[in-house]
Amino acid sequence: MKVLAINGSPRVNGNTAAAIEVVKEELVLHGVELERFDLGLNIVRSCAACNHCARIKKGLCLYNDDLVNEGIKKIAESDGLILASPVHYSGISGTMKSFLDRVFYASSRAPVNPLRHKTASAFVCVRRAGGLPAFQSLMNYLTYAEMVIATGSYWPVIYGAAPGEVLQDTEGMAVLKEIARNMAWIMKNLKDGKEAPPQKVPKQAMNFIRNENSR
Ligand SMILES: Cc1cc2nc3c(=O)[nH]c(=O)nc-3n(C[C@H](O)[C@H](O)[C@H](O)COP(=O)(O)O)c2cc1C
Repeated sequence: MKVLAINGSPRVNGNTAAAIEVVKEELVLHGVELERFDLGLNIVRSCAACNHCARIKKGLCLYNDDLVNEGIKKIAESDGLILASPVHYSGISGTMKSFLDRVFYASSRAPVNPLRHKTASAFVCVRRAGGLPAFQSLMNYLTYAEMVIATGSYWPVIYGAAPGEVLQDTEGMAVLKEIARNMAWIMKNLKDGKEAPPQKVPKQAMNFIRNENSR
């Protein structure tokens, strides 16, 4: 089994990367691989709101010139997903937001959303403040997609500023390891599960202003 961890930091060797490596070590102890997917300094355009993905219904974005469609394919091949971002102005990094908006929007327009019922988790790395709103915004993607969320026993806001400092946040590290153990356990149980998951019920959008252009 394999987990894909999205690293939303521009610093490929920064704190978010170091924290992902800690999760990886713990997952490996429980028989699960982890691949890190660094957004780094790549330019990821924001969603054009063109709704091409809704029309073609292939679960892919129209724009093929950045990491989004590659990320979608890698997520589909993985059993679990971790979203990890540095905190930038009390939110997630701009690149991470552009990436996730398009990955989750296009995936939700596929005939079968590859994210649905996949095991997932999220955490953020922060120097001092703004961790919880950033964490919440990562959770918004996971809950929208009906993912099965692995948690630890505290909200995973990991502290550090200079690259590697997060490793000194011993409580944060313990929470990340708990998440890894819970994630491995959930993934194994879902794989061996005997009962089929609930069927998807078609979404009934209820826009507040109603005319033929509302969708
Ligand atoms: C543009 C920018 C905005 C930041 N905003 C915040 C912030 O709102 N609160 C905070 O405590 N730290 C903030 N930081 C610090 C980072 O969250 C912190 O250094 C984190 O460990 C970086 O993780 P990384 O090494 O994976 O990039 C900011 C850093 C940058 C570059």
